[in-house]
Amino acid sequence: MWRLALVQLCMASAIQGLNLDAAKEQPCFNISRSPTPLFDMNWAVSVGKFYWPLVSNMDLYRAATDLLQKDSKKISISTVYYDSCITWHLFKDGTLLSKGFNGLGREYKSKPLSDNPDAYQFEPVDGTTMYGGTAYTTFTDNKTYFFSAVCLSDGEMVWGVGSPTPTLPEETKKMILEHAVSLGFKKEFFSELRYDKCNN
Ligand SMILES: *[C@@H]1O[C@H](CO)[C@@H](O)[C@H](O)[C@H]1NC(C)=O
Ligand SMILES: *[C@@H]1O[C@H](CO)[C@@H](O)[C@H](O)[C@H]1NC(C)=O
Repeated sequence: MWRLALVQLCMASAIQGLNLDAAKEQPCFNISRSPTPLFDMNWAVSVGKFYWPLVSNMDLYRAATDLLQKDSKKISISTVYYDSCITWHLFKDGTLLSKGFNGLGREYKSKPLSDNPDAYQFEPVDGTTMYGGTAYTTFTDNKTYFFSAVCLSDGEMVWGVGSPTPTLPEETKKMILEHAVSLGFKKEFFSELRYDKCNN
């Protein structure tokens, strides 16, 4: 009886699509500018390719939906966690590229905010609106990770961490999550994206 229930549960979750409503965390709030710059953009451009080891569910779902260009309800959660292999590619001219799902890519253009050196606005080059907004880097060591809080263009506040490596040390993860919580985000709303099945 118990085993049957478990099998049904697994089957249900295997076909479960992304639920954007349930991933909603909080509306955009102001991120004040740091008195001194936090983020070394030259470092980020020199790294070029970033993994996304920690991310809020909404950020992940929205970027994945934009990358796949299909109805979010038809995208399976397990595919996003284990098979998406999403990486971000940063270029000097402000081009931002997401790659994943076996060769898909999405191009965004970004420009820095004039009044905050740690923040930039980004939007898809094709003018669609599924994913875009303003990203504020609020925590980084300019070496192994950077944390950005993102106000999406439809008013949802999300966050994500870029890292040159697919996983982060436990100690770093702990610091980052404490930072996320200090900004008002909740632990129930984040994911650890898995790259162990990826070729990159
Ligand atoms: C954010 O700051 C701007 C200008 O400083 C202000 O107009 C706006 O109401 C603030 N928004 C929130 C959500 O606090
Ligand atoms: C990161 O780089 C910025 C810009 O160069 C710098 O102001 C900041 O102190 C650096 N932070 C760390 C932790 O090295």
